[in-house]
Amino acid sequence: MSARVTIDVQPTPDTAMRAAAERLVDGATRAVAASGRFTIALSGGTTPRNLYALLATPPYATRIPWPAAHVFWGDERCVPPDDPASNYRLAHETLLARVPVVPDRVHRVRGEDEAFAAAALYERELRAALRTLHGPPTTQPGARLDVMLLGLGDNGHTASLFPYSPALDERECWVLAVDVDATPPARITLTAPVINAAAPVVFVVVGAAKASILRRVLEGARDPAALPAQLVDPVDGEVCWVVDAAAAAELRRG
Ligand code: 6PG
Repeated sequence: MSARVTIDVQPTPDTAMRAAAERLVDGATRAVAASGRFTIALSGGTTPRNLYALLATPPYATRIPWPAAHVFWGDERCVPPDDPASNYRLAHETLLARVPVVPDRVHRVRGEDEAFAAAALYERELRAALRTLHGPPTTQPGARLDVMLLGLGDNGHTASLFPYSPALDERECWVLAVDVDATPPARITLTAPVINAAAPVVFVVVGAAKASILRRVLEGARDPAALPAQLVDPVDGEVCWVVDAAAAAELRRG
């Protein structure tokens, strides 16, 4: 890996969420100081629910300059925004409805639309926000996601980049519609190039059920086809793994 890798082992899920919140505050504060805005890509699944709820409460609700936020998602399920499986719904009900984000700066993936059209629209929106209408992402200020939040699936996936998926090899498109071995299968995901242009990338992984996969990803043989989370290697930045002691239990470092 060329990126700086930090593994922050916290005693409990609650302290892990607070540690992750602090890193999001830091990333947002630095970005706003540099450019007057910050762009963040949220993760989905179940882990971030408590993090989002924490970010919506004092002191984080006022420590993050939400009016300056441009909110994206690392991936989305191809479902309507009010569907229980929607990553947008998760973030909206736990966080975005409770902080002063500017509505037209919340760039949800239109999961209710035909997947390829939704992916193309989302890519256009992201490229416009990152001022790179064509070509690969860059790490220029304002042209990269200021904070990329990711989770880790128990099969080593992250975002909706799943093992042995053709999406893992994508180097041109920033967003792809994919079919994955999960429910629901139809998803839309950021690809590795745009994830790896972000700084920092913050993984949040908690619970004993993730201990084995976390060890394989962090300390096992490099095999990004089988372990797509190993693709995350920002070209100029940091990957921070915020984990609780239960998830870190099998790490040699732990
Ligand atoms: C999704 C997520 C996905 C998630 C992992 C971990 O849409 O499901 O983006 O990548 O982060 O599957 O999910 P849990 O937090 O539920 O374990």
